[in-house]
Amino acid sequence: MEKFIIEGPCVLKGDLKVSGSKNAALPIIAATILAKGKYQISNIPMILDIENMLSILDDLGARTTLKNNICTIDTTDINSFEPDARKVRNIRASILLLGPLLARFNEVVLDQPGGCFIGARPVSTHLAALIDLGAKQIESPDSYHFRATGLLGAKIKIEKFSVTGTENTIMAAVLAKGTTEIQNAATEPHVIDLCNFLIKMGANISGIGTHNLTIQGVQALSSADYKIIPDQIEAGTFVIAAAATKGQVKISGFIKEHQKSFLQKLDDINIEYSFPEEDVIEITDATNLRATNIVTGVSPGFPTDLQAPFGVLITQARGTSTINETVFEGRLSYLKELNKMGANCVIDNDHEASVTGPTPLTGTTIESFDLRAGATLLIASLIAKGESTIEKAERIDRGYEKIDERLNALGAKIRRVTAE
Ligand code: EPU
Repeated sequence: MEKFIIEGPCVLKGDLKVSGSKNAALPIIAATILAKGKYQISNIPMILDIENMLSILDDLGARTTLKNNICTIDTTDINSFEPDARKVRNIRASILLLGPLLARFNEVVLDQPGGCFIGARPVSTHLAALIDLGAKQIESPDSYHFRATGLLGAKIKIEKFSVTGTENTIMAAVLAKGTTEIQNAATEPHVIDLCNFLIKMGANISGIGTHNLTIQGVQALSSADYKIIPDQIEAGTFVIAAAATKGQVKISGFIKEHQKSFLQKLDDINIEYSFPEEDVIEITDATNLRATNIVTGVSPGFPTDLQAPFGVLITQARGTSTINETVFEGRLSYLKELNKMGANCVIDNDHEASVTGPTPLTGTTIESFDLRAGATLLIASLIAKGESTIEKAERIDRGYEKIDERLNALGAKIRRVTAE
């Protein structure tokens, strides 16, 4: 168990580089199962979720290494379609193994994945798509068990927008015989990155970046090297941290194209920023924040993964802001922790809340419920007066590479304590 102890307040100043995208790297690692061979994937974030995913692949017979943000994967000798149940339950993204294992072995047995506590996370879209592609689900109390005699292209309507549901469907379809048309595909930057990687492996996918994808199945794919895109959510989190502390920070790896709705919110709340270079944003002034309303949505809407970090920013804005979290129902609990620090947040129901500011925050002991809520509390602690302790800090490490060291390099005072 890890704790962060933070001495606040601080003003962040300096330069920072965004890591590679967690939510692109995870499906891309899963996709290496689709073709036997050696891969070198660069710009991999050095985080727990990635280590866990690689360890699952190792157990299946792959050989992987991870060093200096580069991972190598040799999938030639993968000989099992049944990932270790305990490890699968440890990481939500293990659901992404369904499509590739089924495509490679015509069979997959996957325990029910775990993950963050952010509400119900059904996977019916994933299961329905595999069945549409000709797989049969075999009844099993604790696992998803599918078998096929060769997947067949199909018209698939994804009933509920789903990032990993779209990714699983794509990975299952690229080797299916014939044409697959996917309606209601998710268009998040990480879904696009997965498609670009699959194309490098030889897949035939059109409509990338739209809600309608057409996939012409190919007989075989081959291994490929690839560089992961910068992390959209990490970039946003650091922008928010810089602004919340009223600092001046230059952040490289900020892709404007991925951040349209986020940039709109920076304008709404009155943060001043500039782009000294392509893909570099500089936060220059956040001293006069005004209230705004946040409504999360699927891409191109405001990302749910930035809702909580933005929540701390509105505690510092003049007036009453509202939050409407439309994607998940368990993502407002962090507001109770902010109230312990002196914020004025009212949770109306599982999806809606209001926050009135500006309120000074004071350090206290708070718990990180999930990855994004944890990063949020860390930002709150940077602006709070006095000492804050964040329990279960390892939840933050699941998605942010060395966040303590990187913020300390900008002037934060975060100490990591490993508890027994
Ligand atoms: N949903 C259904 N039925 C389904 C699938 C989803 O009703 O079959 C609902 C979910 O309950 C939720 C919404 O659709 O209300 C969105 O869920 P989605 O399936 O898109 O989420 P996910 O694929 O499990 C990914 C990211 C999450 C991110 C969401 C939304 C990865 C590995 N995870 O999850 O990232 O919050 O998309 O953008 O890509 C994080 O990084 O902290 C994180 C939680």
